[in-house]
Amino acid sequence: MNGCSMTADSLRPVGGKRNEGQTGQSGHDFRKMFEEAIRVITLMVEMRDCHTAGHQQRVAQLAAALGEELGLSNDRISRIHMAGLLHDIGKIVVPIEILGKPGRLNEIESAIIRTHPRVGYEMLIQIDFAAPIADPVLQHHERLDGSGYPAGLGGEEILPEAKILGVADVVEAMCSHRPYRPALGVDRALMEIEAQKGILYDNDVVDACLTAFRDRGFTFQAQPGMIRPQAEERLLASAKSGTTAHIAAR
Ligand SMILES: [Fe+2]
Repeated sequence: MNGCSMTADSLRPVGGKRNEGQTGQSGHDFRKMFEEAIRVITLMVEMRDCHTAGHQQRVAQLAAALGEELGLSNDRISRIHMAGLLHDIGKIVVPIEILGKPGRLNEIESAIIRTHPRVGYEMLIQIDFAAPIADPVLQHHERLDGSGYPAGLGGEEILPEAKILGVADVVEAMCSHRPYRPALGVDRALMEIEAQKGILYDNDVVDACLTAFRDRGFTFQAQPGMIRPQAEERLLASAKSGTTAHIAAR
């Protein structure tokens, strides 16, 4: 994102110091500022591509539910939720024609898509409050058997938060329409993670996901691509004019 000026400094109050006595800012104020910053970033993504925004919101929702199912602390669940909201932020540098390509990606296009976890990481570490979620964002496409990207990490090298994001990401993606295939549905998504349990996806996270859907009745609240009607209208308009603005969860 060339020219982006959203740095740690831009999130600090005038004077640049997080000294409560000097600035009058409390921890609560900073948290609110951070949440506002996330909201703005999410809106930026949505302005460009409403499907990415819908996908991120739904992944955040499921990832938080999995964190709860796994008995994580509220702080960790909150971080996982925020990481979910921003996990594909790095796709902002991927051309829309690649994100929305209906067919198979060629080698170069795949390589470009695969830059998004690191780009997202590099963006988030610029923001003090976002630094704790930068690593899970970097690792959300890593897989247990080392077949993921960008680093090909395996097993315990992958953060638990990233393992949760990875499962939430693939389940949401399979439940949603993509340019290269229709929505496959929850049952198919759960079959997929069950089949890859202990291979690609963490055993405990998969179990938590199966329990969330099958026993706790988890359902996605936000609809894919329906976060803002205006954004959906733009999408339809561009589809009619022969271009695509869909997002592929690749
Ligand atoms: Fe991703």
